[in-house]
Amino acid sequence: MDWERRYTEGDTPWDRGTAHPALDGLLAQNVLQGKTLVPGCGAGHDVRLLARHHLRVTGLDIAPSAIERARNFAPVNNETYLCEDFFALPKEWKQSFDSILEHTCFCAIEPNRRADYIRSATTALKPGGRFLAVFYTDMEDQDGEPPFGATTGDLDALFGKHFRLLEEYRGMPTFPGREGCETIRLLARI
Ligand SMILES: C[S@@+](CC[C@H](N)C(=O)[O-])C[C@H]1O[C@@H](n2cnc3c(N)ncnc32)[C@H](O)[C@@H]1O
Repeated sequence: MDWERRYTEGDTPWDRGTAHPALDGLLAQNVLQGKTLVPGCGAGHDVRLLARHHLRVTGLDIAPSAIERARNFAPVNNETYLCEDFFALPKEWKQSFDSILEHTCFCAIEPNRRADYIRSATTALKPGGRFLAVFYTDMEDQDGEPPFGATTGDLDALFGKHFRLLEEYRGMPTFPGREGCETIRLLARI
């Protein structure tokens, strides 16, 4: 997928112009804390919501135009944006984050890179760090195009070795058209 081209051509149907509707309520329960990373942040709507909840947030995206879009919004608080590849994080980021928020990055990457995704997440997080994720678990296959779904069984197998499941939330508020497709999980890095 040429993500940069999707942004330059304005072909970004995933961008609903706001943070994921379930997040505000979850963040109000302090499920995440401290220094937080948002991989594949796009235009940064979730990043700004986290910043509103007083987290120190870094939004990261591989597409320069996504980061430009994010930076064009008025800063909310303590948020920064970086154009980086989640699979090639700076060495000094090792175990430097208290939390990660995952929303539509995991489903955007090729399934054969999922182990790499988990490696990056476990490397960036401190032991005990929180991982809050909106996963696509119940959706039709898109003929080899993202979003790539994963069953809850897939998630158990992929994340189980490095993360402990703290909570699973089903039927949470979401965007129109995504009802019944998502599972939100709160994990802790072992
Ligand atoms: C479906 S979009 C979702 C964007 C944003 N999370 C949202 O919900 O609006 C997937 C995002 O992941 C980014 N992305 C894909 N591969 C990436 C990688 N290896 N490192 C960082 N970002 C990546 C894309 O550029 C794109 O912005």
